[in-house]
Amino acid sequence: MKHTHIIGVGGYLPEHIMTNDDLAKVVDTSDDWIRERTGITQRHIIAKDEYTSDLATRAGAQALEDAGMSINDIDAIVVATTTPDMIFPSTASMVQHKLGGKGFPAWDIQAVCSGFVYGLAQVDGMMRGGMFKRVLLIGAESMSRILDWQDRNTCVLFGDGAGAVVLEYKDDEGGIIGSVLHCDGSYRDLLRAKHAHPGASPHNDRLDMNTDAAGVAAVEMKGNEVFRFAVTKLGEVVHEVLEKYDIKQSELDWLVPHQANIRILKATAKKLGMSTDQVALTVSKHANTSAASVPLALNDIYRAGKVQKGQLLLLEAFAGGFAWGANLVRWSK
Ligand SMILES: CC(C)(COP(=O)(O)OP(=O)(O)OC[C@H]1O[C@@H](n2cnc3c(N)ncnc32)[C@H](O)[C@@H]1OP(=O)(O)O)[C@@H](O)C(=O)NCCC(=O)NCCS
Repeated sequence: MKHTHIIGVGGYLPEHIMTNDDLAKVVDTSDDWIRERTGITQRHIIAKDEYTSDLATRAGAQALEDAGMSINDIDAIVVATTTPDMIFPSTASMVQHKLGGKGFPAWDIQAVCSGFVYGLAQVDGMMRGGMFKRVLLIGAESMSRILDWQDRNTCVLFGDGAGAVVLEYKDDEGGIIGSVLHCDGSYRDLLRAKHAHPGASPHNDRLDMNTDAAGVAAVEMKGNEVFRFAVTKLGEVVHEVLEKYDIKQSELDWLVPHQANIRILKATAKKLGMSTDQVALTVSKHANTSAASVPLALNDIYRAGKVQKGQLLLLEAFAGGFAWGANLVRWSK
């Protein structure tokens, strides 16, 4: 029977690393506080002359290489991002051009930190419907460009990066089993970036205190309320997706969660009866890279040689909106 398979995986993190101690020079915080409350020790920050599409292009190129494909083998590019280069055209169209592709469809989707999980569900549905045979799906963000670097409640939590997968619809064992998605817009004010911004371009660099953008409120969050809701809804959605596809939690090999906070990840693993070494953990080194965090976590365990053919993976994410969801994948690579 035909399914959508992950046949290539890639990731890219900008070179510049900002540690908690570096951050403590910018805002009133400490390494101890950040580690203890979030599990984060450092984050990667995009270079002044880089765009989200550059991170996405590098991750996409690595995923293509891993799949043994060229851009000419691809039927569509989908980029999940909250921090597009510009309001338009789409970051996906930039990535298509930078990878040397032409003609096939390319578009962005926006579900903040759940963007990749939403994207995987969307592309899988389109492939099952016969639209495409091979798709490059990327989650890419430069969150540092939409943070208020004077707000210690938010700026310590995020980082920049990109993760990518090549998806192929083919007759083979395993592949994407299915997905569950949710959104409840009544919580829209608890986590948001309400100011329209001119794209996450270097012209909007909030780390540069000399630009007009510095200190302008961007990402705003009621951390405590987000935390409580995330733990509850993620606990529910992981069980919902298992029930929907008639799979027991004891069959799971890997949890590949959105990397917002180590305490949220551990709470979800506990609800699934999974040990910490069954969880893809990158929050310590990457912080929250929004739509990039799930594919970067997947890339991390994949490149470490930890994921075996036939294993069962549960991907999940929680985001502003609130928007949340989960995907079940039988690894077939
Ligand atoms: C943000 C978060 C780490 C804060 O942890 P917390 O245990 O809830 O901490 P609180 O918000 O209760 O803040 C406790 C104190 O620390 C202070 N504080 C907040 N950020 C701080 C920082 N970076 N450094 C030092 N102190 C800080 C607060 O001002 C508060 O001080 P007060 O008690 O004097 O008012 C946590 O709520 C969280 O992870 N929320 C979910 C975030 C998330 O997942 N977002 C993305 C979803 S996609």
